[in-house]
Amino acid sequence: MTVTLRRMDPTGADREALIEFMTGNPFPFHLWPAPPREQVEQAIAEGAYRDDDNDSFWIDHAEHGRVGCFRFEDIQDSTAMFDLRLAAAWRGRGLATDILRAATDHVFTTHANVNRFEGQTREDNLAMRHSFVRAGWVQEAYYREGWPVEGEDPKASVAYSVLRRDWANGTTTPLRWALPGALRANTPTGE
Ligand SMILES: CC(C)(COP(=O)(O)OP(=O)(O)OC[C@H]1O[C@@H](n2cnc3c(N)ncnc32)[C@H](O)[C@@H]1OP(=O)(O)O)[C@@H](O)C(=O)NCCC(=O)NCCS
Repeated sequence: MTVTLRRMDPTGADREALIEFMTGNPFPFHLWPAPPREQVEQAIAEGAYRDDDNDSFWIDHAEHGRVGCFRFEDIQDSTAMFDLRLAAAWRGRGLATDILRAATDHVFTTHANVNRFEGQTREDNLAMRHSFVRAGWVQEAYYREGWPVEGEDPKASVAYSVLRRDWANGTTTPLRWALPGALRANTPTGE
């Protein structure tokens, strides 16, 4: 693997670099595309980057050095979530697939309570969605108008996940999506 996760100290040695990273890159598919410094400072102070439920890592690339930031969320639950952000300069090189694999290895190796690892993204974040598929994650949900966008109509939120047992066994558990019989007519796919 070309990438490794290195645990950061968000309230200590890494605080300023984290604030610079979060305020120095655009995040067009996030609720806050350009978070102001005060907001990042507040999130750090409130434990969003490290507390009992959250943990954060720099993403180090074997050749390029630090390329981004990975934050695990809900790590005390049976379903952990995450936020992945590459620095703008390192986007468009297909790094996210390896990062998802490294993060999946980390969460299932380190947190015995975690059974599912889930990510949600905006429907038009095609780079993230392709990365999920490349890493073998399964799309489980499409929440219509579930992602508010400032000054625009809401977009859909799309959810992907990987199960611990699929990670351990190299399998893919299929979705049981369709309702049986006549009720199936109430679940149009739009395809
Ligand atoms: C989302 C993100 C992690 C993706 O990382 P990445 O590895 O640089 O992704 P890439 O741009 O290389 O795209 C990955 C794949 O999507 C495809 N893709 C990207 N944009 C596309 C588009 N507009 N239309 C069609 N396909 C697209 C690429 O061709 C590539 O496909 P491939 O695997 O078949 O080669 C990165 O863009 C990022 O950090 N963005 C800002 C933060 C963010 O949105 N994070 C997601 C929060 S969950």
